[in-house]
Parts: sequence; structure tokens; C-alpha cells
Amino acid sequence: MSIYTASATAPVNIATLKYWGKRDVSLNLPTNSSISITLSQDDLRTLTTAATSQSFQEDQLWLNGQLESLASKRTQDCLRDLRQLRSELELQDPSLPKLSQWKLHLVSENNFPTAAGLASSAAGFAALVAAIAQLFQLPQSMSELSKIARKGSGSACRSLFGGYVAWEMGHLQDGSDSKAVQILDQNQWPEMKALILVVSDIKKDVSSTQGMQLTVNTSDLFNYRVSTVVPERFESMKQAILSKDFNQFAELTMKDSNSFHATCLDSYPPIFYINDTSKRIINLCHRINSFYNTNIVAYTFDAGPNAVLYYLRGNEDKLLAILNQFCDKIQGWDAKFSSEQIQNWNKI
Ligand code: PMV
Repeated sequence: MSIYTASATAPVNIATLKYWGKRDVSLNLPTNSSISITLSQDDLRTLTTAATSQSFQEDQLWLNGQLESLASKRTQDCLRDLRQLRSELELQDPSLPKLSQWKLHLVSENNFPTAAGLASSAAGFAALVAAIAQLFQLPQSMSELSKIARKGSGSACRSLFGGYVAWEMGHLQDGSDSKAVQILDQNQWPEMKALILVVSDIKKDVSSTQGMQLTVNTSDLFNYRVSTVVPERFESMKQAILSKDFNQFAELTMKDSNSFHATCLDSYPPIFYINDTSKRIINLCHRINSFYNTNIVAYTFDAGPNAVLYYLRGNEDKLLAILNQFCDKIQGWDAKFSSEQIQNWNKI
């Protein structure tokens, strides 16, 4: 009996304008648009192979060699949507094998420790959707597929593209206009690099979904952020990327990280994702930028204490010289210093 297979990789993306808040939890529809940069395939990525055969008995997933459950509603939503698109193709062309009716075997592997406190679900769902879409030979565009990845994990929709990516929140209730689009290809602004400072590899105690809902329900600042701050910042950040204005891009990125963490602190009870070491890194970046009289580095923090620093290749020596010197002196720093470089970016 024939086995059909396809593989895809999807890198982790790190938001520079944060997605924080769901207007529809079931469909993963956000309360604001967001922007991110997708890391290179060589850095942090998931590789997924999807196989299907009439002889397979059940859908199964092996993640880093371990059998994992596929039972979550989010995974099921993704599988259902992909099978639906495949069955439409099979209706149009009855000679096609009925892959939509067969079970799937999925093998996924991260090239980074899942416990490193770095977002893995974005790359995971993006690679899963891309691999199955390829297996099913779906003609849909990446933006169309991003709506399916979004149902798995909101930020996953952005990992389907390389480079600089926007997730347009959309306004329709069914989510059909909430999708990712590429702002700029990595090759159009290839000088951008990212450095990840792993402050802690302990798993976060408040999940992003729990945290978001607490913020949406209790923070007063949150309403101001989504109604006033982010819509304007979304346009300015897109503009800064299109015009490759690092100084402006960095300012907006740092402000948005701070604004997101401010809404976390304004939640009740408050959520603390960044810790004292993170705050020392923030101060160090501001001191570096003020020394150079322009922004040569931007920090951003997701739902945890680890910093991602963005900078331009030309400033790498300057920046690393200072970081190497100071990081040793940062209290709480344990030299888990991993350099993830944005090089040789590839699209999936
Ligand atoms: O996609 P989720 O549910 O893992 O949420 C991601 C939330 C942040 O990483 C904090 C921000 C973002 O836009 O990626």
C-alpha cells in the first residue's frame, strides 16, 4: 500500500509588536495586530514530516522522539481544516487518492531544547500545517494557510513566512480576515540579527492563553493599548521596516515590549514575566544606545524573562564587546549565552 510523505520546516518568530489578548479564544482571534521577525532555519526551527497511508490506523504524532497526544482542540481544528481543503480538491478531481480520509503520522523535531523557555508552539504548528498542506498538495497561499496555523497557536500564523511579518487582526467574526502577510523579505533587509539571552530556562508558570485572558479581563491599561497605542504603532513599525530605519524600529520595539509588560503588571493579580535580570538587560541596552547617541540595539521580551536583542550586523562587534564585558557582571546571569544569528534566511 502506498505511503505519501512531505516535510517542511518552520522557524521560531519573535514579535517586535506583541500579540496579547484574544477577542475569540476558540478561533484564536487577537485583540490587536502584531509584527514579528522570523529567525533563520539554522537557528530555532521545527522540522515536521507528515505521512499518510490507507493502512494507518490512527493519527499519531512523535515530537522529539516521544509519542504525543493529538487530542487538543487546537490540533484537531488544524487537522480538520486541512482535510476539508483536501477533500474539496478530491471532489474536483475524483482521480486523486483520498488522502483526506486516511490517517496521518507526524514526526516533529525541534533543533533547540523545548524546555529552553523559548516559544516552540509557533514553529510547531506552522511546520505541522506546512507539511500537511504540502502532503495534500493544497493550492492555497501561505496567507490562507496562516489562518489554519493561527487556530493552533496565534503566533504560529507568522512563522509561515520568513523575514518581517505582520499578523493583521481582521474584524470578521469567523476569523476569515485574520491572517499573516509578509512586510519585507529577509533578503531585502538582511543586516538584521537577533541574539537571545537565556535568563532562565524554567517553564513559565502563567501560560500565554491564561495570561492574556487575565489581562483582557482585568487591566485598564490594556484597553488603551489596543484601542490607541497599537494601531498607530503597527503602521509606524511597518514604515520603519519598509524604510529600514533601525533607530525608529528599535524605539518602537522596545516601547512595545515595555507596553505589553506594563499591561501584565496592570492585570489583577499582576503577572510578572520579566525578572530583575531582565530589567538589568533593559537598562544596559538603554545605556549602550545613549552612549552611541542612536539606537544600535533593541530588546524585546515575550511571556518570560529571556531577552531577544535585535541589532544590525555592522554593529555586532561594538555590541558584543560591551555585552561580553557586562553580562558577567549582571547579577543572576549564568553565562547561558546563546547567539542565534539571523543568517541565510530561507522561506519554508
Ligand atoms: O501564540 P501564543 O499563544 O504562544 O502567544 C504569543 C504571545 C507573545 O509571544 C507574548 C507575543 C507574540 O506576539 O508572539
